[in-house]
Amino acid sequence: MKVLLGVCGGIAAYKAGELTRELRRRGATVQVIMTAGAEHFVTPLTFAALSSNQVMTSLWQPVNSDVASGEPGAFDIEHIRVAQDADVLVLAPATANFIARLAHGFADDLLSAICLAAKIPIVVAPAMNVNMWLHPATQANIETLRQRGVQIVGPGSGDLACGMVGDGRLAEPTEIADHVLAAAQRTSDMANETILITAGGTREPIDAVRFIGNRSSGKMGFALAEAAMARGAKVILIHAATTAAPPAGCEHIHVTTAAQMERAVLEQLPRASMVIMAAAVSDYQVVSPHAQKLKKTTALTLELTQTPDILRQAAQQRRAGTLMVGFAAETEHPVEEGRRKLREKGIDVIVANDVSQPGQGFDSDQNAGTIISAHDERMLPLSSKRVMAESIMDYLRTTSLRLNPR
Ligand SMILES: Cc1cc2nc3c(=O)[nH]c(=O)nc-3n(C[C@H](O)[C@H](O)[C@H](O)COP(=O)(O)O)c2cc1C
Repeated sequence: MKVLLGVCGGIAAYKAGELTRELRRRGATVQVIMTAGAEHFVTPLTFAALSSNQVMTSLWQPVNSDVASGEPGAFDIEHIRVAQDADVLVLAPATANFIARLAHGFADDLLSAICLAAKIPIVVAPAMNVNMWLHPATQANIETLRQRGVQIVGPGSGDLACGMVGDGRLAEPTEIADHVLAAAQRTSDMANETILITAGGTREPIDAVRFIGNRSSGKMGFALAEAAMARGAKVILIHAATTAAPPAGCEHIHVTTAAQMERAVLEQLPRASMVIMAAAVSDYQVVSPHAQKLKKTTALTLELTQTPDILRQAAQQRRAGTLMVGFAAETEHPVEEGRRKLREKGIDVIVANDVSQPGQGFDSDQNAGTIISAHDERMLPLSSKRVMAESIMDYLRTTSLRLNPR
């Protein structure tokens, strides 16, 4: 396992030496990157000796690109290469300053540029004076990072180097190492899965220009796709109308209507080891949509018929061992409705969410709900859709959920 350890300019920088040793004791290769501030506290030589690796300190003076050799392809853009090669990135200690820069997407030194280029899990271990930690700016920045799926470890409470007592101590190196290893493991814990995910809202034509649609943004399905890919899964993403941009790196199938979504899902079903239906599929379609635009009249009556129940059909037609997961967006009694749908549709797991609550569900970047299976029910507290997607993936990894093991 390859760990990138970013050391920032705080008094606890010396403790990153102990973390380097702890990570190596657990079998990791450690590449240390220091900010200019960190070099005021500890020398790169300390980390070079402890990690048995050259320490990286500058965006402008790459240590590993062999330009002098003159070989074609000998030059790498180092911050990109480093970000791509590793399994996990940990910032310890993370200063108030660096946390702010990370939250706002700065890339003006080597460590911040690597953080931005990295698609790997990021673990942040803050360490600072208690007032700096409790400052609303720091707390807001930490919350931003948390909502993006960054893991925050600590800080602990106690005597601080500044002489004050309170929150701000760097978490213990063993605790940080535990989180780093767990985060790295997550990058491959779904490597054997092919996950079919549906997202967005279907549109049922009324005439040449009008349709029956819904407010789904696609963000929940896209967050699930990102979380699954980050854990090594192959993702087939079937998406209808969305307001968000779909993530790169998965197989995309674009559909418009419920009937098209049904066809695409049933076609792809044999390839999937897991199916997560997060799309908002219209319950009704117009019996005979008009080919031309309807003229405006004082009243219009549309004859509607039910669309196919894709979830139920997919559950019936799945091969043994394919885990079926549905979403139930409800405005009343979401948990009871979720339980009923779980039974009636013959699926393994359902995520019930209350879309009547402001600031969550449709159109929102946040969501909350209850994950329900035959085994148990778990609350998913209000969080970003990405954080919720991670919790759902953690739950789905439990193989005992599979009713018909492969
Ligand atoms: C003696 C001393 C100790 C410091 N300790 C901390 C600290 O523990 N945490 C912190 O966030 N900032 C601390 N600072 C402030 C940072 O060094 C400063 O914000 C710096 O710009 C951080 O740079 P960096 O985030 O790029 O590493 C300290 C400064 C000094 C002079």
